[in-house]
Amino acid sequence: MSALVFMTLGVLFLLYTGNRDADAARARVTGAWDRVVPLIRQGYLPPVLPSGKGVAIQVLDNRGHAVAATENLTGKPPIATFHAASESVHVERVLCPPAGLTGCMTVTSYKVYQPDGPWLLYVAVPKGPWYGSTTGLVLAIAVPLLLTAMTTAGAFYLVNRDMNAVDAIRTKLAEINASALDRRVPVAGDDQKELKLLAETVNCTLNRLEDAYKQLRQFTSDASHDLRSPLTAMRAQLEEALLHPPDADWPKMTTAVLAGVDRLQAIVTDLLTLARLDAHAPLALRPTDLGRLVGAELDRRTYRTTIVRSLQPDVIINSDRLRITRLLVNLVDNAERHANSQITVSVRADGETAVLEVLDDGAGIDPEHREIVFDRFTRLTASRDRDAGGTGLGLAIAREVAEAHHGTLTIQDSERGARFVLRLGLSRATDQAVRAPD
Ligand SMILES: Nc1ncnc2c1ncn2[C@@H]1O[C@H](COP(=O)(O)OP(=O)(O)O)[C@@H](O)[C@H]1O
Ligand SMILES: [Mg+2]
Repeated sequence: MSALVFMTLGVLFLLYTGNRDADAARARVTGAWDRVVPLIRQGYLPPVLPSGKGVAIQVLDNRGHAVAATENLTGKPPIATFHAASESVHVERVLCPPAGLTGCMTVTSYKVYQPDGPWLLYVAVPKGPWYGSTTGLVLAIAVPLLLTAMTTAGAFYLVNRDMNAVDAIRTKLAEINASALDRRVPVAGDDQKELKLLAETVNCTLNRLEDAYKQLRQFTSDASHDLRSPLTAMRAQLEEALLHPPDADWPKMTTAVLAGVDRLQAIVTDLLTLARLDAHAPLALRPTDLGRLVGAELDRRTYRTTIVRSLQPDVIINSDRLRITRLLVNLVDNAERHANSQITVSVRADGETAVLEVLDDGAGIDPEHREIVFDRFTRLTASRDRDAGGTGLGLAIAREVAEAHHGTLTIQDSERGARFVLRLGLSRATDQAVRAPD
């Protein structure tokens, strides 16, 4: 493309110089006419005319004899035979060569009327090529060629440099695997803006992948540990009973092993729930009256603590009832475990948001632990002592459920005890509300 532009400019340059040279030649011819014609008219015509630069002049009298000429034509026959048809007209022809001269020349013939008849004035100037001078031609070819070569070399350099950077990124990416997740691709300099952005984006993605992978590894190790503890305990109990079968207290041992099985079952169920939430399995969303749903769930079970309800009706959300119930049960179970005597469960609408709060009157959760309790397998020391049966997955599941519903679940300040707050967008299809199951 640039080669085409440079070549066009070259041709335009040649046309320009060619035209300029033709104009100069025409000026020389007119100059000769101006000088010689007065001499003819006044009768002072010397036989040898002063020769101008690059101009050959010859004057023929009425009989066609050369009477005056520039030095190179002195004593030579007429250089041409053509002449203008009338006084005002001059004729121009290219002769290759005119008689007595060499090379192609543009010969202009003027008729000069004298008392004894028409005289002829021939002025010959070298016929230049259309492109002007050879230097011009060389320049017009060489400059575009040089510019094209320079542009191509520049483009080649840039492409080559970018390709090298892309190749460096590719090589580094190819080296990255699960055991070398901490590697990053090289970031190009500011002069390769797009590649720099690409490398930075790749590195950000790698950072996120590494974090996710570390979390997954931690989770797998925590899960294995939590599954192994009850298994070890159950195995020890069974082996001990088998050591002295007659002396073993089989009902007691069976009850203990069953407790272990219950725990394993609880962990596996929670893990399965989390796996489904992680896989973003589609929710069975239906318009639900949140107050009714909570009321029905609280009615279903008996609690050792007093449950105070404050359930506003007609707070309609789009929810997967099973999952929201699971979230509620997890919160209420926790509250019951930590409460002294009372739990307050409330549902209300706050602008465009439905708010569910579960508040207990226990020891509460310190602000610095209010986020980590939502991490998988996190159990604060106090609760380990209080109840060895927890999985540490309840709040993680509850938060995943909230987020799957595009809502939030957080722990807020309270005068006493822990205050869990779930916020979900209200459903606009209020009129489609379906009664919560009893
Ligand atoms: N209502 C609460 N009051 C005080 N601490 C709580 C409460 N709810 C949860 N926690 C703390 O958060 C931790 C994580 O809770 P959770 O994920 O439900 O696990 P689990 O109940 O199996 O211990 C609990 O172990 C406990 O330390
Ligand atoms: Mg729990």
